[in-house]
Amino acid sequence: MIREEKKLYWLIVSISMLFISIFLLTACAKTNTEYKKVSKKYLYLKKLAKDKNIHKFLDIYWETPINEGIPPYNWPKLQKSLSPSSCMVCHYKQYAEWKKSRMAHSMDAGVVGQLLLKKMTSKHWKSWVMSCLSCHSPLAEYYVKHDKYKGLSKKEKNILRNGTKEKKAMVIALNALKIPIGKGDLSVSCAACHVRYYHRFGPNIKKYLKQGKIAHGGFVPTKAFTKSYFCIKCHQFSPDDRGLKGKLFENTYNEWKNSIYATKGISCETCHTPQGSMAFKSIYNKNFVLKAITIHLKKIKIYSGKVSTTLSLTNSGVGHDFPTYTTPKVILNIAQEKSGGNIINKSIKRYIIGWSVSLNLRKQHFDTRLKPFQTAKLIYDYPLLKGSKYIKAWITVKPESHYTRFFEALLKIKYLPKIIKIIFLRALKEDVDSKYLLWKRLERIY
Ligand code: HEC
Ligand code: HEC
Ligand code: HEC
Ligand code: HEC
Ligand code: HEC
Repeated sequence: MIREEKKLYWLIVSISMLFISIFLLTACAKTNTEYKKVSKKYLYLKKLAKDKNIHKFLDIYWETPINEGIPPYNWPKLQKSLSPSSCMVCHYKQYAEWKKSRMAHSMDAGVVGQLLLKKMTSKHWKSWVMSCLSCHSPLAEYYVKHDKYKGLSKKEKNILRNGTKEKKAMVIALNALKIPIGKGDLSVSCAACHVRYYHRFGPNIKKYLKQGKIAHGGFVPTKAFTKSYFCIKCHQFSPDDRGLKGKLFENTYNEWKNSIYATKGISCETCHTPQGSMAFKSIYNKNFVLKAITIHLKKIKIYSGKVSTTLSLTNSGVGHDFPTYTTPKVILNIAQEKSGGNIINKSIKRYIIGWSVSLNLRKQHFDTRLKPFQTAKLIYDYPLLKGSKYIKAWITVKPESHYTRFFEALLKIKYLPKIIKIIFLRALKEDVDSKYLLWKRLERIY
């Protein structure tokens, strides 16, 4: 009797073992074929990276959704991670610069709020969200498509417990959209630009090799990282994309291509990533803008009771239209000032540089952007007012002017869900705060 039981026991054990091994073998084979498929794609890309036809390489490199596949099993955990904070451990300088750039902010409140609103109001939200993510967070897109989101991370749970109401709202929104924040997916991250199939691609700045250090299996060097075409994926619409009056809303690459900078071989990277800087300086950075423009205030003249001068701004060093998008506005101002710093309001004259369009993007108010070497002029010719002692000329920059108007309008909608309101108020504050004084001059009249 006992022997019979033992036999049965062994039979059951052997059968279970058989099933387990079959299961494990299929799982291994699956990972193995997936791994082989990914390796093949990687090797092809690696080969193309050396090709003279950089456009061919980049067209494949920038196919989205980006699927990184599975990391090589024998790499240390740190090198398997795609999160910018792991890159930071070894590339501190690049991380510190990137973190302050717009790239790291491409999934801030303004964008996330819009994505959530779409989900709440449309059945077809997914493809819409995907289209935004293909530029704003190309790795996160992968999660939306493949539904691999595994729920809240420790960090997110902690925010829900202890965070501010804005941070909580962001976590709830991202969770509803199934976009994880922990993995380096949530922006135009380092990995979005540098990592394919877990292998690093870079411009090949040789100083590392001299130090004799090797990590993440080395990297694939390619000239593509110094060419303007590298940026085309997200900074140039295709001809059938949205535009107004025959002008595409995103046309930076073409503007550059038609300028003297393209002829001279001065690429986007020459200006925006000098010496491998990952700061992506832009209209947000006062000194960066000042270096690329020339400002001139004409000598002040007084004649028959009037005061006259001209403030001019020339695009002397921007490699495309100044500014390139509908988003920023640059405002030239001249006014008369009393002693003690009081501006006489009715004496203010303004000129706005930018492409101003209605909020539904269907109507153009004006387009005064400056092509390379064009000049904008604010001509001042105004009665000299009583008590006026100075002429004040100043230039302000509103990097997010269009979106400031946009969020103000959205916030006026009745019955806006509370969470959306919290997020858009945050976005509006960020946009309003980005305004700054670029330049000013005070000239005595008498
Ligand atoms: C929008 C795409 C983009 C993002 C995002 C980005 N890079 Fe780069 N990176 C580039 C380009 C383009 C270059 C080439 C710059 C050049 O040579 O002018 C480069 C250069 C580099 C280099 C070589 C330069 C050097 O000095 O060694 C390293 C390392 C690097 N990036 C790391 C990072 C890290 C780390 C992050 C995130 C913190 C990051 N990058 C984010 C596009 C990007
Ligand atoms: C994967 C998409 C992607 C690629 C590739 C990319 N960018 Fe961007 N870039 C963005 C997004 C999205 C923003 C806007 C972030 C925000 O403000 O929310 C941005 C913002 C910028 C800004 C700041 C814009 C501003 O309004 O102040 C600059 C400058 C810039 N990119 C330059 C470059 C250059 C140069 C390259 C090529 C080396 C490049 N980008 C490649 C997606 C990309
Ligand atoms: C082809 C790439 C691309 C696509 C697609 C795209 N964007 Fe952008 N977006 C950009 C770039 C580049 C900027 C920065 C330039 C600017 O300020 O206009 C930007 C800026 C923004 C900003 C203002 C900056 C901020 O962070 O508040 C918002 C909001 C935004 N995009 C939302 C969206 C939404 C929503 C979608 C999807 C319907 C979308 N974008 C699709 C490239 C893209
Ligand atoms: C453990 C340290 C370490 C980590 C973590 C790390 N790197 Fe590197 N990285 C290096 C070293 C060392 C090199 C030089 C490798 C060589 O010369 O073969 C390098 C080279 C590179 C290059 C090529 C630079 C060039 O001149 O073209 C890029 C791009 C890069 N890493 C990106 C990244 C990104 C993106 C991450 C995060 C997802 C990351 N690295 C994480 C150590 C690291
Ligand atoms: C000769 C230098 C130079 C070159 C080349 C150049 N840029 Fe710029 N870029 C600037 C300066 C300066 C600014 C700040 C003033 C402004 O916003 O126009 C700027 C601003 C931007 C902005 C901020 C948004 C806006 O509305 O102006 C983006 C995005 C951008 N550049 C992308 C690119 C891309 C993509 C390329 C390549 C196709 C490129 N730039 C080539 C100098 C350059």
